[in-house]
Amino acid sequence: MKTLILDINKDSLALAAKLIKDGEIVAFPTETVYGLGANVFDENAVKKIYEAKGRPGDNPLIAHVADADGVYSVAAEVTEDAMKIMRGLMPGPVTMVLKKKSSVPDTVTAGLDTVAIRMPLSEEARAFISAAGVPICAPSANTSSRPSPTTWRHVAEDMDGRIPLILKGKNCDVGIESTVLDLTRKVPLILRPGMVTKSKIESVLGKEVFFPDAVDKSMNSPGIRYKHYAPKCDTYLNVDGDREKIRAFLDADAGAGLVASEKYRGMTDKFFTLGDGAAGGAHEIFAALRDAEKSCGKILIVWDEKGEEADSVYNRVIKSCGGKVI
Ligand code: TXA
Ligand code: MG
Repeated sequence: MKTLILDINKDSLALAAKLIKDGEIVAFPTETVYGLGANVFDENAVKKIYEAKGRPGDNPLIAHVADADGVYSVAAEVTEDAMKIMRGLMPGPVTMVLKKKSSVPDTVTAGLDTVAIRMPLSEEARAFISAAGVPICAPSANTSSRPSPTTWRHVAEDMDGRIPLILKGKNCDVGIESTVLDLTRKVPLILRPGMVTKSKIESVLGKEVFFPDAVDKSMNSPGIRYKHYAPKCDTYLNVDGDREKIRAFLDADAGAGLVASEKYRGMTDKFFTLGDGAAGGAHEIFAALRDAEKSCGKILIVWDEKGEEADSVYNRVIKSCGGKVI
């Protein structure tokens, strides 16, 4: 298949809308990562997403909406907590899980009776969803198990020849995926941490919010089982920032690359920046991994930032390295 890669304008949005109407899939930018979208109500189109990504069928997708009407079109029940999230945190990099309407196909939700809903902040994403005129279900636009795409070039690396259109937008501002918040349980549960942190959600809801590990691990999101964010080469993680350890790792293998915050620049020529602080790490992590794998035989990620946002980045890097910590 020939993949068109087009700047976002009136013409490309019209083409994207037509493709969605015709049951095709389209890659588009959001403020978190690029998504690979289809009409949420079109089961055959949704299947194409799983095929293009090589995604396991039991890992559900997020329905992306442009406004509150979009939320009501897929959710059976918009609870008081859901209203608070909509008022306080949407649009933005947060996804809420609510009871689904029966019109939302099982292919989207992997057979669950709930649906994940997100209202992106990105103007480009909102323009695409509005042009399509239906909620757009979308996972990240990477091949399954690979680092998520934060630039249109990353999408092209994975999807060229597999999908008809990539909408070529800005690089993603946030850089890691949305916080997934389950509002269908006795207590609000964060199924995937992101830059919308537990304390931000607690201040909006006015009550305590939990991670599943603190309540019941069986409540974890289906997606958590799978290999994630993995570069093509062997990858390790250091969390204490011990420079002697880092030095020894780099000296033992001339092909080793270092993915770390700016404060570690200079330790090797094969350096791939995570910028400064938690926001820098979130913004750079997937691009740094995709750059590093091109020229390195091995990768060491150093992630020693502290705090809630930094912990959300940790959630990604610990998966990237398959749990191999030095
Ligand atoms: O920022 C984002 O959320 C990006 C952009 C494109 O919006 N999308 C994204 O989608 O990260 P994906 O498919 O890579 O991750 C969706 C996550 C998975 O962990 C999945 O298991 C969870 O959301 N999820 C989806 N529907 C769910 C449901 N009904 N119940 C529990 N978890 C759900
Ligand atoms: Mg993903």
